[in-house]
Amino acid sequence: MSVRIGLLGLGTVGAQVARILTQDSERLEKAVGEKLELVGIGVRSLDAKRDWQPEADLLTTDSMALAGSCDLVIELIGGINPARELITTALNSGASVVTGNKALLATHGGQLLELAQAKGVDLLFEAAVAGAIPVVRTVKEGLAGDKIISISGILNGTTNYILDEMTTKGLDYDTALAAAQQLGYAEADPTADVEGLDAAAKAAILATLAFGQEVTLADVSVTGISKITKADIDQAGARGGVLRLLGTVQAPAGQPSAVVEPVFVANDHPLAAIHGPGNAVVIECENAGRLTLTGPGAGGAPTASAVMGDVVAAARALVARR
Ligand SMILES: NC(=O)c1ccc[n+]([C@@H]2O[C@H](COP(=O)([O-])OP(=O)(O)OC[C@H]3O[C@@H](n4cnc5c(N)ncnc54)[C@H](OP(=O)(O)O)[C@@H]3O)[C@@H](O)[C@H]2O)c1
Repeated sequence: MSVRIGLLGLGTVGAQVARILTQDSERLEKAVGEKLELVGIGVRSLDAKRDWQPEADLLTTDSMALAGSCDLVIELIGGINPARELITTALNSGASVVTGNKALLATHGGQLLELAQAKGVDLLFEAAVAGAIPVVRTVKEGLAGDKIISISGILNGTTNYILDEMTTKGLDYDTALAAAQQLGYAEADPTADVEGLDAAAKAAILATLAFGQEVTLADVSVTGISKITKADIDQAGARGGVLRLLGTVQAPAGQPSAVVEPVFVANDHPLAAIHGPGNAVVIECENAGRLTLTGPGAGGAPTASAVMGDVVAAARALVARR
């Protein structure tokens, strides 16, 4: 027996997942107890140049057929549609799903999780929040017996890079943004990052996980960094700290709230020490106290690490159910 895997998307993250599934197959088989068999890869274009070039006969443009015919589907296309239809098809066919799609989860996550539960399969999404940092599993499992008071974090590497460059090099906003674009940290259209929308999707997912009530992107109060000036940065420095774009979730009176905004962080706070495009999450709990997790929040291989953690977990559960 093997676990038949369909991969949807072969871009920045998907290519690294395909590489790991191929190169590390022996180690993964030991970890799961059965072989992880990559049976197909759904893409838009069969001829595009890839960071990892799989065997040509694995590629297909019929992602829907692939999504409906596997034990485990990994969705790394992004966006709402067709990702939503593909995941729905996979879950309805009885497959477990692993995704890194924060935009989809922050808008339709509740429905998809209900469907997964009704079908008795897994829908796992570690890669959707803070890249390689295992924050989803920490909140969902490690802290399941504790009461979370708040989670506050640097959830977007692009904006942290820009604010950090403005702080450490004295750059103005436009120059720091241009540097981020040149290094590939920011897209040509940087709106989703600099206006806080990417961080807001992650904050919505974290709030839902931490407090057990669905919080969607529309519920998050969002202010980005595009209006931050050098004077704001200097003022924070004069007060003994730095500005960071933070996503903060809490539920003071049992009602979850999620806010993304630039926040003054004192120099001795762990989040002030996060430089460049790094991510970090500070979780305050009733019994554990304060936990700080830091690491790469994006990039092909780091994000693929989070995806593969979920793949192994879902495959183990699937093997145990057989
Ligand atoms: N990049 C990161 O660092 C990062 C970090 C955390 C989470 N994520 C999440 O991971 C997911 C993937 O991100 P990415 O950066 O890897 O994206 P990407 O580089 O843009 O790759 C997207 C892939 O999806 C394929 N695709 C697009 N539309 C499709 C369709 N209709 N049917 C089949 N395939 C289609 C593309 O195929 P073609 O190549 O043929 O065009 C491409 O291979 C997203 O949800 C993103 O939010 C990414």
